[in-house]
Amino acid sequence: MHMCGIVGYVGAKDAQTVVVGGLRRLEYRGYDSAGIALVPSKGDLVSSKKAGKLANLEAQIEHSPLPAAHMGIGHTRWATHGAPNDANAHPPLAPQGKVAVVHNGIIENFLILREELENEGYEFLSETDSETVAFLLERQLATTSNLTEATRLVCERLEGAFTLVVASADHPDVVVGARRNSPLVVGLGDGENFLGSDVAAFIDHTKTAVELGQDQVVTVTADGIEVIGFDGLPAESTTYTVDWDVSAAEKGGYDWFMTKEIHEQPAAIAETLLGRQDASGRLQLDEMRLSDGELREVDKIIIVAAGTSFYAGMVAKYAIEHWTRIPCEVELASEFRYRDPILDRSTLIVTISQSGETMDTLMAIRYAKEQRSQVLSICNTNGSTIPRESDAVIYTHAGPEIAVASTKGFLSQVVACYLLALYLAQVKGVKYLDEIGQILEQLQDIPAGVQQILDNTQEMADLAEELVDSKAFIFLGRHVGYPVALEGALKLKELAYLHAEGFAAGELKHGPIAVIDQGTPVFVVVPPRARDQLQEKIVSNIQEVRARGAFTIVLVEEGDDSVLPFPDRVIRLPKVPTLLQPLVSAVPLQIFACELATRLGHDVDQPRNLAKSVTVE
Ligand code: M6R
Repeated sequence: MHMCGIVGYVGAKDAQTVVVGGLRRLEYRGYDSAGIALVPSKGDLVSSKKAGKLANLEAQIEHSPLPAAHMGIGHTRWATHGAPNDANAHPPLAPQGKVAVVHNGIIENFLILREELENEGYEFLSETDSETVAFLLERQLATTSNLTEATRLVCERLEGAFTLVVASADHPDVVVGARRNSPLVVGLGDGENFLGSDVAAFIDHTKTAVELGQDQVVTVTADGIEVIGFDGLPAESTTYTVDWDVSAAEKGGYDWFMTKEIHEQPAAIAETLLGRQDASGRLQLDEMRLSDGELREVDKIIIVAAGTSFYAGMVAKYAIEHWTRIPCEVELASEFRYRDPILDRSTLIVTISQSGETMDTLMAIRYAKEQRSQVLSICNTNGSTIPRESDAVIYTHAGPEIAVASTKGFLSQVVACYLLALYLAQVKGVKYLDEIGQILEQLQDIPAGVQQILDNTQEMADLAEELVDSKAFIFLGRHVGYPVALEGALKLKELAYLHAEGFAAGELKHGPIAVIDQGTPVFVVVPPRARDQLQEKIVSNIQEVRARGAFTIVLVEEGDDSVLPFPDRVIRLPKVPTLLQPLVSAVPLQIFACELATRLGHDVDQPRNLAKSVTVE
């Protein structure tokens, strides 16, 4: 079982170079092992695979080169079941060595299939469900010589979620792909064609992509592609142009993709806001497919998301309820459908997902649709599964996010949620146009505020240096600062592998304050002074932790000197309205986590045990 990155290629170029280059771009999806298979000539299939990052595979290929070929497949793995070792690396080969398969997803009935094959004498070399597919395919090809048809017939036997890309020694000019509940896109080139888990796999070669639908098989040759359904009938597919280029998928002089993406945040926010007002100043959300009439019926909103996207949802709840007066709940995608939530036609489910592929979120969408609710998704990835399966979509235009830790994804999600909230307020008539216009102007000012923080990252780097030996961190916030505290802690956990916990500042005294020890670093996000009650309360919270020995780092707006007597360190934030403060206060915490992890010698872009798109439940 795996999430992983998949590449396929047929064309005039050197397949090994193209496939390994594609894997390099997809490595953020998983980096427990990597492998490729090539068909240099009819009857001949060669492969190489290695545990660990792609660099290990590259070293192995350099040591033992593979023959030149014009067709190949590749895989970079994020392991869930089956250790991340050489044996479990992809592609598994079928016993006669003539069929190789790369797979992303979970074959849920693989034990039954494996037993069936073992009873026929097949011997398995790995613990993976994917090897079963390779064996089934070899068996199928003995009676069905057409590779597409053989793949389709094998797919009919599989349950669960999968993307498959297949190479066969007897079909040197063809790569076949198939998908169910797992991503696969086609890249159309000139005399060459590609397959990839996402467009990054082939962005160096073409910007023309084809979305594959659910339960489809695609046959790719150098001259064209053919798409059929699992039912064997010709299927529709949509071609689109990728709206970002190679430079967006490169580090552009930064040490890490994460650093680059942190610095892209002003642009990501500006892009997400771009073109959202018509000439009369009315908010317009073009991509959205829900009518104003349908939105007027909405009497409850449930935001469903995972990880950082969930925290963006927590922030959004404050704004949605405040601006629209529609009750709003926020729920973890992995929990949502198991608690039998009360949904009906007038409940709007808002899902938030950077990748558009998170399986927990996708399953929540399917559940909500079964209950007849409308689903609107906020997503950063064009053509991905989540927006495709939703009734409506608002795209964040943040550009590709490669680093596993989400940064520009988060800020642009908050902005998109705010646009949605304002749009609902406009449609429901609960806010005047000029009030909406004023908030939009305040949002337009945010990129400059973020830039101000980015112009002085040294401050957070120095702080990371100072706290490099700390083993545990606490983050406190109130109101919208509370999810920011959670997000600050998550960034530190995933990048620095340290214990970090975020709390609502007022909750601390109900238990967690006991963990504060001499020198424990405590970050406190102070609400703007405009919210004096909140601001005053948090000043007391700072004193409470300080009295117990905490080392306090306080993030506070410019001009607010009321907290100055208490903290050990002060990080200044640009002055913005309370509801917009997360868009600036999250940024120093991102920088801190990145700087600390760098000092600890960790791979910031590819933290251990993680992957970018979590396509398993
Ligand atoms: O692609 P998604 O937004 O659906 O991903 C959700 C989470 O897996 C993601 O935000 C994760 O928590 C990040 N690694 C956090 O930095």
